[in-house]
Amino acid sequence: MDKILVTGGLGFIGSHTVVELQNEGYEVVIIDDLSNSSEKVLDGITTITGKTPLFEKLDLKDKGGVEAFFAKHNDIKGVIHFAASKAVGESVQEPLLYYENNIGTLVYILKELKKLPSAAFIFSSSCTVYGQADELPITENAPVKQAESPYGNTKQIGEEIIKDTCRVVPNLKAIALRYFNPVGAHETAEIGELPIGVPQNLVPFITQTAIGLREELSVFGDDYPTPDGTCIRDYIHVVDLAKAHVVALGRLLQGKNKSNFETFNLGTGTGSSVLEVVKSFEKVSDEKLNYKIVGRREGDIISAYADTNKANDELGWKTTLTLDDAMRSAWKWEQKVRG
Ligand code: UD1
Repeated sequence: MDKILVTGGLGFIGSHTVVELQNEGYEVVIIDDLSNSSEKVLDGITTITGKTPLFEKLDLKDKGGVEAFFAKHNDIKGVIHFAASKAVGESVQEPLLYYENNIGTLVYILKELKKLPSAAFIFSSSCTVYGQADELPITENAPVKQAESPYGNTKQIGEEIIKDTCRVVPNLKAIALRYFNPVGAHETAEIGELPIGVPQNLVPFITQTAIGLREELSVFGDDYPTPDGTCIRDYIHVVDLAKAHVVALGRLLQGKNKSNFETFNLGTGTGSSVLEVVKSFEKVSDEKLNYKIVGRREGDIISAYADTNKANDELGWKTTLTLDDAMRSAWKWEQKVRG
């Protein structure tokens, strides 16, 4: 079976994707610098799949290390590239760190893929490229808006770099997957999200509050023009998201792609408000969540959810898990990690 490199394969979305790849029989090699992950994740992957992927600890900023890796693994058929920094606030404070981590490393990898006889490349992009879209649900044709942060900019620039490269490197085919809000954990609670420090994202903050690690959740604003006044997002279960990567990779490896650079939204197509997420958590966990309404968070958009038609029709993929499933699995994981 084809050998696939997964960068950032010990991270949240990366580890779930490694599980799905191995379940489909792919041979997986992981590169991770462990800056936001742990080698223990390998144990979780092994427990779920019965197979331990190859792992190399490598910082992709080490250009020589990347060259040496590809020289050793010159039979790689595809790369799923998760490794990147993702804290929006930090990116505003440290833009060069973000451009080096997210853009510099992308260029090194593409240079190596250029040398291979053929290569499939899957890029982790984000719905952040759309900003506050003018129309909902958001299709892939919605205009890319001025990025709100260097982090968001690295996703936009990353897509452009890949598109420009695919135009002149015929042996390279790529898909950028634009994620909406990935949440949840594996149903076995063997792998899940492991935020360092205080979580910035809603769902880990909810579960950490419920387990007693945080005093209360601040709901950022209830005066938005939405039915209950809180912001709306499209929360997609990480296992559904992981499966989409395997499907997208297969599309490229089997030559079913329509052009050498494609983009797909990955979401459920349904928007949920912050208070609906809280309610879902309370229902599935049977816990009362301590929360209060506070002022708006700077930079938050009002509402974003995906038009999933392109992914459903062309990839033949759709989500099967619900918000309740995601909250249940996130809670099971939190209880296992810190309970
Ligand atoms: C955030 C990033 C986005 C990035 C994504 C990656 C910002 C402004 N946006 O998206 O660029 O691609 O993470 O996962 O940081 N909320 C609360 N209380 C909290 C935390 C969040 O009310 O303690 C609300 C937010 O206002 C928002 C929703 O929950 O309405 C989801 O927030 P979050 O999980 O941070 O995701 P995004 O803001 O959509």
